[in-house]
Amino acid sequence: MKKSIGSKTIAFPAPVFIIGTYCEDGRPNAMNVAWGGICGSCPPAIAISVRKQRCTYDNIMRTNAFTVNIPSGEFVKEADYFGIVSGKKADKFQATGLTAVKGDKVNAPFIKEFPLNIECKVIGIHEIGEHTQFVGEIMDIKVDQDCLDEDGTPDISKVDPMIYDTAASTYNSVGKMLAKAFLIGKEFAK
Ligand SMILES: Cc1cc2nc3c(=O)[nH]c(=O)nc-3n(C[C@H](O)[C@H](O)[C@H](O)COP(=O)(O)O)c2cc1C
Repeated sequence: MKKSIGSKTIAFPAPVFIIGTYCEDGRPNAMNVAWGGICGSCPPAIAISVRKQRCTYDNIMRTNAFTVNIPSGEFVKEADYFGIVSGKKADKFQATGLTAVKGDKVNAPFIKEFPLNIECKVIGIHEIGEHTQFVGEIMDIKVDQDCLDEDGTPDISKVDPMIYDTAASTYNSVGKMLAKAFLIGKEFAK
């Protein structure tokens, strides 16, 4: 038996993306985004939805660039701070002590202490009610060397990303690996 709970922004899992941009005065800014995810393969692309009142919105509209930074669980406090204070009112890098590094592919800063950083160039802008969806072409990904496995692929257990629970509004860690994709389902294809 199912119970209808209505039209809400609940879908599991949502990411914890920290978006890096430059303000007009050259100050780096970081913002927490849960409404986002990979949205294209060729070219590799990632989408984020940002409300117009955000400092990040102005910055992306001006620079056409952003970074998506994946924090590991140890940075949960910093990640939350990036989601509750605006760059219009505070220097968030100064407050947290994290390091902004200028991207070498796009005009946006990435966060040195976070294990995985994605440099994006805006290739699409879509209005979705109160949010503006920015589609970014992934120009480069930088990963801490100790988060790579033997063949150079980022290892999710080493990156230790967080999941945002859209129902409870909590940060959660990733669980264990269940099966290999594109393989386990083949049992039904015989
Ligand atoms: C867990 C979490 C997820 C959030 N996701 C989004 C989002 O997807 N889009 C958005 O516009 N704001 C989102 N916010 C709110 C912004 O991060 C927040 O308003 C932030 O202060 C904006 O920073 P800025 O003004 O420096 O850009 C989120 C906040 C939190 C705590």
